[in-house]
Amino acid sequence: HTVRVAVIPGDGVGPEVVSATLPVLRAAAHRAGAEVDTVELDWGGEHYLRTGRAMPPDAVDVLRGFPAVLFGAVGRPDIPDHELIWGLIIGLRQALDLAVNVRPVRSWPGVRTVLREPDGIDLVIVRENTEGEYAGVGGRLHPGSPRELGVEVAVHSRAAIERATRYAFVLARSRRGRVSLVTKSNAMRYGYTLWDAVCAEVAREYPDVEWESVLVDAMAARLVQRPRDLDVLLCGNLFGDILSDLAAVLGGGMGMAPSANLRPDADVPALFEPVHGSAPDIAGLGIANPVACMLSGAMLLDHVGLPEAATAVRDAVAHALRDPSLHPADLGGTATTERFAAAVVAAV
Ligand code: NAI
Ligand code: MG
Repeated sequence: HTVRVAVIPGDGVGPEVVSATLPVLRAAAHRAGAEVDTVELDWGGEHYLRTGRAMPPDAVDVLRGFPAVLFGAVGRPDIPDHELIWGLIIGLRQALDLAVNVRPVRSWPGVRTVLREPDGIDLVIVRENTEGEYAGVGGRLHPGSPRELGVEVAVHSRAAIERATRYAFVLARSRRGRVSLVTKSNAMRYGYTLWDAVCAEVAREYPDVEWESVLVDAMAARLVQRPRDLDVLLCGNLFGDILSDLAAVLGGGMGMAPSANLRPDADVPALFEPVHGSAPDIAGLGIANPVACMLSGAMLLDHVGLPEAATAVRDAVAHALRDPSLHPADLGGTATTERFAAAVVAAV
């Protein structure tokens, strides 16, 4: 069968890691008897400078025709960050109601990290993706005056918490059976106490899954000290964002961490993207690590019903990572994005 994928390369290293990934996905799908048919969309910083918007007004309708979207990254030093982040990626997550952001992190043989050798990490962050601290509620009052205020209101709805929580418990069942809810319900008395309550209710439906509630500051320490014990981390929007960069580094770096934006309860396109941003400090040098994007592509193949192709991508990435001469700069090597990608295609 043919899988239609909308591709948004975006800015900075986005186009570099996306173009390294597409041949891998094509080869893996082909091996599984399928084809990947891509339509490229030129949304992002360039589009913003040309039209005043990061994506066209009918962007959501365009995407609705596809089962899946592969997204690189947005962000340019010459455009205010919030314009592009809200104008594209957060905008799409909210407009398509992509309620759950899934971010797996694992260690890879051959990739050295800051963790002690035998420890390693194998966990999934499940992040509520549409509200919480990123709900977009608030404003700037009395601009320029000494009384100026920036108000940012966090919104936590029972419905959104339940969706993310259910997803986390189902996922934990297919893994090591443990959910760690991450909150700050000691200092924040309304939103995160609701998370604790909803999680306790949902947990009753999954007696085979162990769960705990951990304060985010304690979780930051635990991630560094004993990551091996963690299985599924269930987070609100802000804490999930922060902890996923920390976890990504423990798994080998920002260049290694994939993600999926999903809506489990409806038929909308799912969006797959590396956790990292546009990395302007290395953009254009041809040295970006494409693993995060390739693994996001593997999640995409799983999502569209090609699990064998997804496994082929992961196996080929693992194979290439075992060879230090193929490591890109962020893993301490000298290989270019292209060289690494060619090795992965060959391994597929
Ligand atoms: P970043 O993730 O782009 O970069 C952080 C560090 O990780 C940099 O040193 C960068 O070189 C490195 N890095 C990131 N991806 C890499 C890769 N594939 N290979 C090797 N090294 C890599 O985060 P930063 O610097 O905070 O943000 C840069 C821009 O990206 C900003 O405009 C920001 O708003 C945007 N951004 C966009 C996101 C998205 O599109 N989903 C997510 C995060 C940031
Ligand atoms: Mg982030």
